[in-house]
Amino acid sequence: MRILVTGGAGFIGSHFVKRLHAAGEDVVVLDKLTYSGNRANLPDDVEFQHGDIAEPADVETAARGADAIVNFAAETHVDRSILTAEDFGRTEFRGTQVLLEHIRRTGIRLVQVSTDEVYGDLEAGGSSSETDPLRPSSPYSAAKAAGDLLIPAYVRTFGVNASITRGSNTYGPNQYPEKFIPLFTTNALDGEPLPLYGDGRQVRDWLFVEDHCAGIEHVLREGKPGEIYNVGGGDEHENIDVATRIVELTGADRSLLRSVADREGHDRRYSLDTSKLRGLGWAPQTTFEDGLARTVQWYRENRDWWEPIKSGEYREYYERQYGARLAGGTTV
Ligand code: NAD
Ligand code: DAU
Repeated sequence: MRILVTGGAGFIGSHFVKRLHAAGEDVVVLDKLTYSGNRANLPDDVEFQHGDIAEPADVETAARGADAIVNFAAETHVDRSILTAEDFGRTEFRGTQVLLEHIRRTGIRLVQVSTDEVYGDLEAGGSSSETDPLRPSSPYSAAKAAGDLLIPAYVRTFGVNASITRGSNTYGPNQYPEKFIPLFTTNALDGEPLPLYGDGRQVRDWLFVEDHCAGIEHVLREGKPGEIYNVGGGDEHENIDVATRIVELTGADRSLLRSVADREGHDRRYSLDTSKLRGLGWAPQTTFEDGLARTVQWYRENRDWWEPIKSGEYREYYERQYGARLAGGTTV
């Protein structure tokens, strides 16, 4: 199979590409290289095209000869979608539609990489299953849900060969340090404050990046057209406990933890029922304890990857997102 990986220079996409490449698969990457895309995440000998999934000509060129597309391309940070949401609609909805039009014409397979956030949040107890209604609560998750809705519509109307994966909170090496775990890890390593939103009791269902990629590959090979598959770690933790573990693993001072103003519309808890994909033979292999230790170790040993990122555009974003929050923060 020749596989086009869109958004393959980002966090999860680059791990997916390295996984296929190491297994000797024929892979090509199409990536717009937004702030979170990084060519250096990929081996030099991986075929790469700089371009936009919302531009039909870019998709046409990159997909030449491909048997399947796996779509990771997205604007991915909830906090940024609260500051400015425009690019989210364009990439998540228009971009997905361009990919669907391509597979409609060519008959090749598409796996759309989506998120548990489209289900909205849950109170304590219970998990989201693939048949649950979509109740997105942020501009990011609403844009992802809009892209998702196109898939069954194209399957039913045009008979295209497309499936959706919905992954839970993913962590591991090479994650852009705006997200919770890499932000707290790199700040802790630098002795900078750790801005915990609200009461810190929100719950996320954590999934190590390699397990997420294995789940997506499983769906690429075994999934049925029109079907949705949840990919979750089943490792639920409150943010305060994750932050405390990062403090311990980095050897930082606990006084760096700051309670700051909450995220607007903050989802309280996510949890995925993954029995459908487990029934096809997939299961996560990495415990949160082990995956977090490996991740912290990677950031400790790879300052040359993240230090250059934490300048320029990142500093402007950081000041906008955290300046007033940290000024008004309190000890935890
Ligand atoms: P990321 O921000 O690290 O990577 C996104 C990649 O998409 C970047 O390389 C970026 O340059 C590229 N991109 C953005 N717009 C593009 C466009 N218009 N055309 C081509 N490329 C474009 O994100 P990630 O965390 O690796 O997430 C990848 C996918 O997985 C996303 O679809 C996201 O919604 C989904 N997902 C992420 C998580 C998570 O916890 N990180 C969990 C579940 C699902
Ligand atoms: O659930 C899957 C989703 O996980 C993906 O679809 C998204 O692309 C990905 O960004 C992630 O979304 P979250 O909003 O859950 O992840 P984030 O890392 O931004 O935040 C995780 C939790 O930590 C959340 O409850 C908010 C909290 N948080 C986050 C940051 C950045 C803080 O308390 N402080 C922070 O500075």
